[in-house]
Amino acid sequence: MKEQNKIREQFPILNQKINGYNLVYFDNGATSQKPLSVIESISDYYKNSNSNIHRGVHTLSRKATELFEQARKTLAQHFNVNNDQQLIFTAGTTDSINMVAQGLAKNYLQTGDEIILSTYEHHSNILPWQLWAEANGGKLKVIPLLEDQTIDYAAIPALISAKTKLIAITHVSNTLGLITDLEKIKTIAQKNNIPILVDGAQSAPHMPIDLQKLNVDFFVCSAHKMYGPTGIGLLYLSEKWLKELSTSKPGGGTIKTVTFEKTEYAEGALRFEPGTPNISGAIGFAAAIDFMNSVGTQTIFDHEHELVQYAQKKMSEIPEVIIYGKSDHKAGVISFNIKEQHPFDVGTLLDKYGIAVRTGHHCTQPLMHCLNVQGTVRISFAIYNTKEEIDIFIEKLVKVIKMLN
Ligand SMILES: Cc1ncc(COP(=O)(O)O)c(C=O)c1O
Repeated sequence: MKEQNKIREQFPILNQKINGYNLVYFDNGATSQKPLSVIESISDYYKNSNSNIHRGVHTLSRKATELFEQARKTLAQHFNVNNDQQLIFTAGTTDSINMVAQGLAKNYLQTGDEIILSTYEHHSNILPWQLWAEANGGKLKVIPLLEDQTIDYAAIPALISAKTKLIAITHVSNTLGLITDLEKIKTIAQKNNIPILVDGAQSAPHMPIDLQKLNVDFFVCSAHKMYGPTGIGLLYLSEKWLKELSTSKPGGGTIKTVTFEKTEYAEGALRFEPGTPNISGAIGFAAAIDFMNSVGTQTIFDHEHELVQYAQKKMSEIPEVIIYGKSDHKAGVISFNIKEQHPFDVGTLLDKYGIAVRTGHHCTQPLMHCLNVQGTVRISFAIYNTKEEIDIFIEKLVKVIKMLN
């Protein structure tokens, strides 16, 4: 990509040595690095506009409120949502899924109901449903994988019963990078009138997301994987669920009127945003969205796709490397192991060369069982990564293999 240097210059953290080597940051699936515009938007806020929002009449409070609500509008435009009230600021993907699970538990899910998940799911999209199921005699049904580690869509109809109340599925597997065909899921779900929750933690950072086109019930993601700050994320609710989802977190700011006898709740996003929200986080999230749009989300996808293809090809030439979920239809992630070696050893030795990778189960233990491994080494890319970095990674990986054998 022509503008690569200009992009990298915006990420000061990349310009450092780790153990005497130039940092190669391939752990973007866990969290991405932040451009100066995001860092400065947060420090600017604290320098010039910090105040509590929504209930103040003074100038600073109005300024902070405006910045916070402008952030919501920026996100609405980015995700192509007409009514910005459908976008709720949360602490992140995990928080968003918990809010949906607890909200649905109040007035939608009944004893003995069933929820369909996929084998790919991150623990964050398993545990909230499992907790509900354990307390309510509910059941989780799991979509299996085919031999090539893609989702077995043909198996879904057999999992559906009159008690199926939700399909909660990841858009992109954080471990394998494989992309779920949501159109197939939607066709089956709509035929059976089943709502869908999409875990977009690994799709929103890597590809264009149009929530009108996607047309699902719930979509969740985290800013920190999208060049934004930690501790802030998004819960998108369809118009129907904006009205019907119960709030699981009541508190100041969510109400119209309160008496000791009864509370009338606010309408729209505020109903789900109790207490003082992460104001600087929302502003940083919007700055991160602006950064992504300054590059272009399709450009990000295309660049990372090229990196995945390039890396997979080079890695395939190393006989000791086993790649999981090898495919061209991927978003920025490659999981692999070195034959007969523990992933932690591979990760630790790569770190000695300044290469940051993630090792372990990646919060997807059921998927690890399915792959019949304890863990993997995962490299995951962002817009600032380069083919040169992949060349360095390959060279050092070969050295690591020699050291371990
Ligand atoms: C697919 C997926 N879902 C959920 C999460 C949880 O995100 P967070 O820790 O930001 O809440 C992650 C984080 O790695 C993820 O990759």
